[in-house]
Amino acid sequence: MINREIKGEEISNVFTQEAINNSMVFFQKYNKLMSYYRCALMEIETKFNVLNVEFSLRYDRNPINGIKTRLKKPMSIKQKLEKNSYPLNLDSIESHVNDVAGIRVVCSFERDVYMLADALLKQDDIRLVNRKDYIANPKPNGYRSLHLIVEVPIFLAHEKKIMKVEIQLRTIAMDSWASLEHQLRYKKDFEFTDNMANELYECAKLSEQLDRRMDDLRKLTQIDNDL
Ligand code: GTP
Ligand code: MG
Repeated sequence: MINREIKGEEISNVFTQEAINNSMVFFQKYNKLMSYYRCALMEIETKFNVLNVEFSLRYDRNPINGIKTRLKKPMSIKQKLEKNSYPLNLDSIESHVNDVAGIRVVCSFERDVYMLADALLKQDDIRLVNRKDYIANPKPNGYRSLHLIVEVPIFLAHEKKIMKVEIQLRTIAMDSWASLEHQLRYKKDFEFTDNMANELYECAKLSEQLDRRMDDLRKLTQIDNDL
């Protein structure tokens, strides 16, 4: 935080016409790149919505409970590049930051997570870059979700751009645990104790049980056993 007053002549050193022009060019390019990521999110979101419609027509239930999308904030992009000692430029963002565009798909049942992931990855314009199955192998703190990094093409007037998107698929129970854990863990000015971490881990186990029991109920209804 700068707490001294900045004199007029110092400002004119910083705000040279050249510096202003350079930063305007940079932000135009940055905004363009972000709009490409936004388009990639629209493509992926539509693909999931289509799968949801098709599935609900066939089985009379929705595998998707909700979808959220977000673009990573400039400061978080910068911090991620710096943390890994990558250059701070636009090419570097595209090559090294896989989660600029993020989409979270909250599913009804655990099997819906895998069904939707498989159905998406089967599509011939989608390329899988990375897959982390924290459902089969939960994180040590108990976190569960299926993470995919995919590449999807976006079609512009004169070119086709391939963009990366991070997809997190999880059940309602996994999502509620992760949201609350995030709120508790990142609470400012609060020391997170081992006891609290253990308690959270126990809650993650309970949410795992909840998913299993709900899935047993789904099987009993036999609504989609032919899937
Ligand atoms: P970043 O976390 O994005 O730096 O990358 P990573 O390579 O560690 O990716 P990973 O796939 O493990 O996690 C990516 C995202 O998943 C995070 O940004 C969170 O949104 C979510 N996530 C991962 N672990 C946890 C966790 O323990 N708790 C919660 N609430 N979310 C998590
Ligand atoms: Mg991330």
